[in-house]
Amino acid sequence: MRKKLPSSFYNPTTLLGTGLALLSFGLIVFLSIIEAFNSNNKPYAGILTFIILPIFLIIGLLAIAYGILREHHLEKLGKIRNRLLPVIDLNDVKQKRAFLIFAFGTIILIAFTAFGSFKAYEYTESDAFCGTICHKVMEPEYTAYKNSPHSRVGCVMCHIGPGAGWFVKSKVSGSYQVYSVLFNKFPRPISAPISNLRPAKETCEQCHWPKVFYGEKQITDTYYLSDENNTKMTLSMLLKIGGGNSETGVTSGIHWHMNISNQITYLATDRERQIIPWVKSKSLITGKETIYRSKNVKISNQELKTGEYRNMDCIDCHNRATHRYNPPSISMNNIMAAGWVDPSLPYIKSISVIALDKGYSSTDIALDSIKTIVEEFYQANYPDIFKSKNKNIENAITQIQKIYSNNYFPYMNASWHKFPDNIGHIFSPGCFRCHDGKHVSSDGRIISNDCNTCHVILSQQIGDQKPEVSLSGVQYIHPVNIGNSWKNMLCSDCHTRQKDINNP
Ligand code: HEC
Ligand code: HEC
Ligand code: HEC
Ligand code: HEC
Ligand code: HEC
Ligand code: HEC
Repeated sequence: MRKKLPSSFYNPTTLLGTGLALLSFGLIVFLSIIEAFNSNNKPYAGILTFIILPIFLIIGLLAIAYGILREHHLEKLGKIRNRLLPVIDLNDVKQKRAFLIFAFGTIILIAFTAFGSFKAYEYTESDAFCGTICHKVMEPEYTAYKNSPHSRVGCVMCHIGPGAGWFVKSKVSGSYQVYSVLFNKFPRPISAPISNLRPAKETCEQCHWPKVFYGEKQITDTYYLSDENNTKMTLSMLLKIGGGNSETGVTSGIHWHMNISNQITYLATDRERQIIPWVKSKSLITGKETIYRSKNVKISNQELKTGEYRNMDCIDCHNRATHRYNPPSISMNNIMAAGWVDPSLPYIKSISVIALDKGYSSTDIALDSIKTIVEEFYQANYPDIFKSKNKNIENAITQIQKIYSNNYFPYMNASWHKFPDNIGHIFSPGCFRCHDGKHVSSDGRIISNDCNTCHVILSQQIGDQKPEVSLSGVQYIHPVNIGNSWKNMLCSDCHTRQKDINNP
């Protein structure tokens, strides 16, 4: 056989390396072609195509080089001379059969490898991969996501999205993430806001866009107080979401103001973007700028110079669009309103909120303690009810435990305490980060905190009292008498301390 390559090429290591390199290269080309023709964007598939397979390709190439170098070295030492390949004689029946088996086997092997890598490629796209590959690390995000309105939207649609630039960026940070998981270097919880999330324009706006007019959305919520009767309150309000564009004529409300005619830039002094002493609003129509500064939080000139200014987009309000960890009060209100927990059990709201928010070191301990706390409470204070309504109590315990599993993740230190939701203003400052009535411009304008700026309360009923109803809006009545403090303090000043306010 004539050799087209230097004889040092023909050694087992180099030949094996060549095989490996060719196979990986073939698969990379194969998967790249699939990717090119695939209209769905499958960014995570790149982990296989652009990280795992190239590793094999490089191993193959290194083996080739190593084999050749070693061959040269041996040759210098005079150990081998002109290594020959085995001669295959296809006229020999035995050799022919062996050759055919070998060739056939190789083809099948290649076909299976291609099929296998295609399946692996598809798997890297799945949400199960994103949510479970790092196992416990992303359990909180995955669980919250599965219970959210976006549970059918792939992780990659929001986190990676299409486009080459972000693809590479996410691959680089993806590799870092794999490293940090392997070496236990990741933060607990994974800190938000995440710095490498793509701008909302390229993610959320694939499906929702600012010009869509949402009009006013009515929300009706049921609350239970922490007293013995679990006094019920219902509240119905119209949220002025708005939106729209100048051509259709309707431009108003929360969305319009933020995204279409105005650009809002702000400076936060903490990483979580919860403390915002400086805000600028710029009209995109007239170009007029107004700067608002907080009367409460001072900011130094140094911070103004070096701070990171951020243009407000969807994520600044909808930061918990899909990974939402509910405060126990909300979860309990919801399942009590749905009838899954019997509201006639005395103090059930209060005792469950306390049991949920105690701060446990592991889920197992939490689930056990919840059971003990609730059972002991009824045994000690309401022994008759503990007997007569035992089934309802046990049922309630199961529901409370379920709430715990879906909203608290001690291993990752994740819960509503660590991930404030910026929509609303009760359990975290949210809108009141700016709309607290304390942000004033030099010409005396204030970022509004009037209760009717963002919503109108249509009706409110507390316990058996006569309901207040009016289409033009009723005055809010705080369900327990706290004087006027809800007008002067932030709602979250009290409501983040669930344990204190829910103690009967
Ligand atoms: C609807 C869009 C959307 C989808 C779908 C989505 N995420 Fe997120 N994710 C977000 C937003 C928005 C944030 C918060 C960013 C911020 O606060 O700056 C976030 C934050 C995170 C964080 C940081 C920690 C935290 O809780 O804020 C992790 C980890 C995460 N997502 C993982 C996932 C995984 C895994 C999936 C799929 C199972 C997924 N995400 C699906 C939008 C999404
Ligand atoms: C791939 C499409 C897609 C992307 C990307 C997407 N969403 Fe959604 N979003 C949906 C769907 C589908 C729903 C559910 C609609 C329904 O239930 O009526 C939804 C619902 C919502 C809702 C209403 C949820 C509720 O509580 O009722 C909000 C708010 C929202 N999305 C915000 C966002 C934000 C913010 C982002 C970017 C981080 C985003 N979405 C990205 C498809 C998407
Ligand atoms: C100033 C804060 C703010 C910004 C910025 C903002 N939203 Fe909203 N959005 C709200 C509020 C408040 C609601 C109503 C509350 C709710 O549904 O939870 C809402 C509701 C929605 C809904 C649900 C409407 C419905 O009928 O259920 C969608 C979808 C949505 N927003 C998408 C977006 C997208 C996409 C962006 C970015 C282009 C965006 N929002 C920017 C505050 C904001
Ligand atoms: C980063 C600061 C900031 C945050 C956070 C913020 N806003 Fe605003 N908001 C502003 C500024 C600034 C204006 C415009 C004031 C001006 O120049 O007229 C404004 C105006 C508005 C207006 C229009 C008021 C009017 O007079 O017409 C609505 C409605 C509104 N915001 C709703 C919300 C809601 C709802 C949230 C929370 C989901 C929110 N905003 C969060 C800064 C903020
Ligand atoms: C800057 C806009 C804004 C202002 C000002 C504002 N709110 Fe709200 N409020 C919201 C948003 C957004 C929500 C969340 C709606 C949701 O749950 O989707 C909310 C929720 C509420 C809720 C609870 C509704 C629920 O779903 O649980 C109550 C009660 C409430 N607001 C009362 C008030 C009172 C009282 C004031 C005046 C001191 C006020 N708000 C001022 C934006 C505002
Ligand atoms: C001085 C402290 C304080 C302030 C400020 C405050 N609250 Fe409350 N709030 C309470 C207490 C105490 C309760 C009773 C808790 C219970 O019975 O479960 C309560 C109960 C509630 C409830 C019903 C209970 C539930 O299910 O969460 C709502 C809704 C509520 N407050 C809304 C608000 C709003 C909106 C604001 C801001 C405008 C506000 N609160 C400001 C102390 C406060």
